[in-house]
Amino acid sequence: MTLCGMLSVMLPVSIGPALMASSYARAQDTTDTAALAGDPERGKAVFQRVGYCVNCHGWAGDGQAGRNPMAHAAGASLRETQLDTEGLTEVIKCGLPGTRMPYHDSASYRDDRCYGMVLADFDAGSGPVRGKTFGEKQLVDLVAYLETHVIGLGKPTYDECADYYGASADKACGYLKKE
Ligand code: HEC
Repeated sequence: MTLCGMLSVMLPVSIGPALMASSYARAQDTTDTAALAGDPERGKAVFQRVGYCVNCHGWAGDGQAGRNPMAHAAGASLRETQLDTEGLTEVIKCGLPGTRMPYHDSASYRDDRCYGMVLADFDAGSGPVRGKTFGEKQLVDLVAYLETHVIGLGKPTYDECADYYGASADKACGYLKKE
């Protein structure tokens, strides 16, 4: 028996069809989200110039500054993260309260969508840090960038660096020996 068949046996007639309609709508939503495929090239721009992730995580996402004088603080190595798409999305939207990792969604902590917490739950001065905020599509692009260009890639190479910096590669990537 199909799930819908089972539900219509188990549920009163008045609720059954409504419930099935709504779970169908949810299934459609999921398909739409999957269809909203991330664009890593656009995601790179979010990493560099919208979310300024690069300032703390470095051009390579390894938590090192490289030789970029603009990069100041060491964040976690995103190359070694174990987070999946869902985990990345949550950490980027909600940040990591109690650390310098900021949140990047203007809706976070207004309701309990982030770790069940709202701003009022934190003691003064210990609240989550607010970062630059950006929209859903930029977030999907950013995660696609991390998943294709950063996570699991091991030690940063000159070629990757050159790819990242383009025209200014000579200056920015000299510290990585050309293979
Ligand atoms: C102000 C500095 C700062 C900025 C800006 C920043 N981060 Fe972070 N991020 C951190 C720090 C520090 C940690 C480690 C927190 C800890 O666990 O102690 C971290 C942790 C993370 C983690 C969790 C890694 C793991 O495996 O636990 C992810 C994912 C992440 N950052 C992604 C991003 C992205 C994407 C951006 C840009 C939208 C960004 N961060 C911007 C400082 C920053």
